Amino acid sequence: MSATARKTAPLPEDIRARKGGAPLVSLTAYTTPMAQLMDAHCDFVLVGDSVGMVLHGLESTLGVTMEMMILHGRAVKRGLAQAMMVVDMPFGSYEESPEQAFRNAARLMAETGCAAVKLEGGVEMAGTIAFLVKRGIPVMAHVGLTPQSINTLGGYKVQGRGAAGDRLMADAVAVAEAGAFAVVLEKVPAALADRVTSRIAIPTIGIGASAGCDGQILVVDDMLGLFTAFKPKFVKRYATLGDQAGAAVAAYAEEVRSRRFPAAEHVFADTTPGEGA
Ligand code: KIV
Repeated sequence: MSATARKTAPLPEDIRARKGGAPLVSLTAYTTPMAQLMDAHCDFVLVGDSVGMVLHGLESTLGVTMEMMILHGRAVKRGLAQAMMVVDMPFGSYEESPEQAFRNAARLMAETGCAAVKLEGGVEMAGTIAFLVKRGIPVMAHVGLTPQSINTLGGYKVQGRGAAGDRLMADAVAVAEAGAFAVVLEKVPAALADRVTSRIAIPTIGIGASAGCDGQILVVDDMLGLFTAFKPKFVKRYATLGDQAGAAVAAYAEEVRSRRFPAAEHVFADTTPGEGA
């Protein structure tokens, strides 16, 4: 189904049913205007905990809170009519127990209106995923590079190379069998991503994975060139908005200092009838 033919947002089950079909399109979003821009083009939009690094200047996603996810989730929801919204569960909001995960996932759904939550982890989170799904919470899983675990993974390295590929496969199989409706594969070798995609029954959403995945996701500020602190190899920049914004701010500063802004067309006379704005 093309994005333009769609009138209402798909449900998690519709996303699951796209396994092996036309590639699923997804981006992250954190604000209403950005959500509005991508609504007609994306099958689902992720309010990622990357918001902490991209918009709040945090060094990792570990400091992201439930309150941040709810605030940004509500903002994104206001900008969407056609794309499904998934909200990330932040670090510390689900790992302790299935009950803790349920409490926080239910809060994210109730307070943001999201259709599903995403959480990081494979075999070790399968029990929690099954617990949530059985209680009405659709879950998108996330395996491979899981940024909330950088301190135990030893940084933002490619995951699943060599013998570690079997463990990654086991993670993907475990979350699929636990009932996740889709799984993000982050920063894994392309051949492994292809094997996982063939092996499991739910869509794989690649980020630094393979063109053979069932869908792709990128952090929107990366692909627009708005976040420039660093550029992972897997990011393709489709625009350089950060450079354009920097140049615009410099031009504005220069024109204010030289009194070329505001010009005559930007100020008001007190005599024009009917001019109230
Ligand atoms: O937080 C995020 O933006 C993500 C994507 C990178 C998949 O989890």
